[in-house]
Amino acid sequence: MDFVKIDDVDKAKYMDLLLIADEQADMIEKYLHRGEMFALRDGDLRALCVVTREESGAYEIKNIVTVPGYQRRGYGRQLIAHIVDYYKDSGNELYVGTGDCPAILRFYEGCGFAKSHLVKNFFIDNYDHPMYENGQQLVDMMYLKMNLKRKN
Ligand SMILES: CC(C)(COP(=O)(O)OP(=O)(O)OC[C@H]1O[C@@H](n2cnc3c(N)ncnc32)[C@H](O)[C@@H]1OP(=O)(O)O)[C@@H](O)C(=O)NCCC(=O)NCCS
Repeated sequence: MDFVKIDDVDKAKYMDLLLIADEQADMIEKYLHRGEMFALRDGDLRALCVVTREESGAYEIKNIVTVPGYQRRGYGRQLIAHIVDYYKDSGNELYVGTGDCPAILRFYEGCGFAKSHLVKNFFIDNYDHPMYENGQQLVDMMYLKMNLKRKN
């Protein structure tokens, strides 16, 4: 198993996978060019994520996806562990935002994130169509946060 950083010129090749985690391409394009993309490979590609540096100096996971067919095998958790290790010297906090979806929240909490704050109506205000997760409309963005320094 290895972790690789994807070159800027190659990022767009992964759009189909990124769309699984964030279903509107123009939203992905807002962070793709300024983010760093990481891949976990186990032979072939297994999981992918995009991380940005925000104005506050904190880092944010903008997109994370495990290749369908390989989910629930620990790849997502290992990719996050790699990201934490990668940014622990340069950043203080790592954030991730998600809809109010219990399974995804459990995933992030299991990776060491704790709930931070809500951005009200994020999915209504920023997406051009209603989005649903397990039949429930996504409205607010829940941010979770991890202290990168505690992981040293
Ligand atoms: C969310 C996602 C990245 C997790 O990656 P993964 O490789 O499947 O996760 P892992 O196997 O590392 O899971 C680690 C733990 O998180 C929890 N977890 C992960 N996915 C879960 C799910 N769908 N339901 C409930 N718990 C889940 C479990 O506790 C799991 O451990 P376990 O399998 O031993 O019970 C992956 O499911 C995915 O790509 N989903 C579609 C895209 C997406 O929704 N991205 C996030 C947008 S906010």
